[in-house]
Amino acid sequence: METVDAGPVGALRIAPSILAADFGALGAALRAVDAETDWVHVDVMDGHFVPNISLGPPVVSALRPYSERFFDCHLMIAEPVRYLGAFRAAGADGCTVHVEVGDTAAAIADARALGLRVGLAANPDTPFDAVAPFLGDIDLLLLMTVFPGFGGQSFMTEVLDKVSLARREIDAARLDVDLEVDGGIDRVSAVDAVRAGANVLVAGSAIFQQHSPLDAARAIRDAAVSARR
Ligand code: DX5
Ligand code: ZN
Repeated sequence: METVDAGPVGALRIAPSILAADFGALGAALRAVDAETDWVHVDVMDGHFVPNISLGPPVVSALRPYSERFFDCHLMIAEPVRYLGAFRAAGADGCTVHVEVGDTAAAIADARALGLRVGLAANPDTPFDAVAPFLGDIDLLLLMTVFPGFGGQSFMTEVLDKVSLARREIDAARLDVDLEVDGGIDRVSAVDAVRAGANVLVAGSAIFQQHSPLDAARAIRDAAVSARR
C-alpha cells in the first residue's frame, strides 16, 4: 500500500483526534471534518503503557477508505516494534512511538524500514534531553500537553517551555522535523502552542465534541494562522 504524503515539513497542520469522535460512526466523522483538517490523528492505547484501551490495526484498515489524509498514528503502547508492521499494512502513514517505552533506536529503525514516517513522543514530565539524541533520525517530535490515556483533559501550559526549546533546537540544526502538540488543544491553547513553535496541532474534544466539528476545526486553524503571523 502506498503512503500518503505528509506535506511540507513545518507547515501548519490540523490533526483531528478520532478518539473524541463517535466510535459508532468514525468514517462519517472523518468525512465531516475533511475540508478543514490536514492529517488524521489515530490514538492507539493498549491498556499497558496507558490505562486505557482504544483501537488497533483493524480500525485503521476500516477507516482507510474514508479519508485520503495522512494517517498519523500515535502508539501509546508498550511494544510498538511488535505492531508497527500491522499498522503499516492497515494503512498508517506515520507512526509515533513513546520515548518512555525504551528501545527507541530499534523502533525508529523498524518504522523507517517499513516506509513509515517516524515520530517520537514525550510525556509532559519527560525532559527534552530524552528525545534530543534522536532528533536527527525522526520526522516528527510529539510533545504531549496532557498525560496520555484520555481525551478531554486540560492543556498543560508548563509544557510550552519545552515546545520552545524543541523549536529552537530543530531550527538551529535545520532539521526536517515537525513539532506536534497533543492534549487539550482548542482555539485558545492552539495560539500558545503555535507561538511556542508547534506546527502540528492535534485536537480531539475541541473538534469532535462540538456542535459543528467542521466549524470547530476551522476556528482552531484560524486561531493558529493568526498566531503564526
Ligand atoms: C491523549 C491522546 C490525545 C487526545 C487528545 O492520550 O493522545 O490525542 O485524544 O484529546 P483532547 O484534544 O480532547 O485533549
Ligand atoms: Zn494522540
